[in-house]
Amino acid sequence: MTTQKVDHDHEVDHRLIVQENKYYAKSSRINYYDLVIESAHNATLVDADGNEYIDLLASASAINVGHTNEKVVQAIQEQAEKLIHYTPAYFHHRPGQQLAERLAKLVPGAEKQVAFSNSGSEANDAIIKFARAYTGRPYIVSFMDSYHGSTYGSMTLSGVSLNMARKMGPLLPGVVHVPYPDLYRRYENETEHDVALRYFDEFKQPFESFLPADEVACVLIEPIQGDGGIRKAPEEFMQLVYDFCHQNGILFAVDEINQGMGRTGKMWSYQQFKDIEPDLMSVGKSLASGMPLSATIGKKEIMQSLDSPAHVFTTAGNPICCAASMATLDVLEEEQLMEKSNVEGAYAEERFLEMQKHYPEIGDVRMYGLDGGIELVKDRQTKTPDPDFANKVIYYAFQHGVVMITLKGNILRFQPPLVITHDELDKALNVLDDAFAAAENNQVIIPSNEKIGW
Ligand SMILES: Cc1ncc(COP(=O)(O)O)c(C=O)c1O
Repeated sequence: MTTQKVDHDHEVDHRLIVQENKYYAKSSRINYYDLVIESAHNATLVDADGNEYIDLLASASAINVGHTNEKVVQAIQEQAEKLIHYTPAYFHHRPGQQLAERLAKLVPGAEKQVAFSNSGSEANDAIIKFARAYTGRPYIVSFMDSYHGSTYGSMTLSGVSLNMARKMGPLLPGVVHVPYPDLYRRYENETEHDVALRYFDEFKQPFESFLPADEVACVLIEPIQGDGGIRKAPEEFMQLVYDFCHQNGILFAVDEINQGMGRTGKMWSYQQFKDIEPDLMSVGKSLASGMPLSATIGKKEIMQSLDSPAHVFTTAGNPICCAASMATLDVLEEEQLMEKSNVEGAYAEERFLEMQKHYPEIGDVRMYGLDGGIELVKDRQTKTPDPDFANKVIYYAFQHGVVMITLKGNILRFQPPLVITHDELDKALNVLDDAFAAAENNQVIIPSNEKIGW
């Protein structure tokens, strides 16, 4: 099997990181390996030592149209020469006007309005604000294993890491977490229908014991969980929750920050489900190709429920970010990247399923377009997570020119820029194939003693 070989000198990367560690707070980075990214184009990264890598992370799904995409770069440069910023808190600029209209029209159904923020976290905070204001109800329901962000509001909504709560409480009051369906770890003989019903029963439990439905403002869900392991809720579960919300006057909100913007082969990941129209949704990351911009998009009457300055940021809706976003949306359409996500995603899935036949550690392969979670386990019977094996795989990949990280310790996160070429994809998959073999044969030595991953 041919794999891409790179010369693995990380001397400059390492030296820069040792220096950085003197000043950079450890709260703000999850440790993987020594990689200082100097430049990038499409799906290729170049580090400070001049090594090249195929990117299977896309800056955490923030670069769906590829690094330094020509159109996006041009839009940024042209806008930077005209107007770098004027706060939207008081006055108007055209890129913000145009993007708000375009985004409102990009979500089918009833008329929508848009509120801009800087980060995905803030867009989720806005969901809490608008949902409470519109309904006059205090409680929000979100899911275990979800990641919604790092502000107090969005951190409270999340349920994927103890370090996101530890030493910082009390968090926001009025948030209740329910389990997210796990189709992989199902009981013996359980069908998908059984799993959907079991989790819907669990979903309803709070409402039957301590949470009056008429005091719940909204349910917020990732239609496909990102940091929770690239897991899609069963269709039936989604429909049951959606109907429950409607029957009880609860708003149905989706977080599209990780899974939206064409990632799964549809513009929005909720479109992977039948006949769903969210009342509120949050978008970020790839919205402006990694420039700091996010948006909360909601039904007009809901978005009209707050008066200014209830959701105002000096730097939100920055014109350069808005211009980058419009160019990003153009590229998604012109280069038919959703179609590409479907076609190349199906190919990658085939390859991973083939690898699963050879490597017993590959417990589950979940792919939704170029969006995958490959779950690694100690054995397929117990499905016990195997983070050590996963770390060996990603470390081998890194040494051989492929950048990939894990989710929840043991799940490979497969989210390349959607512009990745078939040839690059093949090369990266060949490296992963070799990585599984090397990890199995105990041929991977990870130099650092530090904890890797989440
Ligand atoms: C699903 C989801 N929501 C929200 C966020 C938070 O976005 P940001 O990091 O831009 O605040 C993330 C980031 O990883 C995410 O994956």
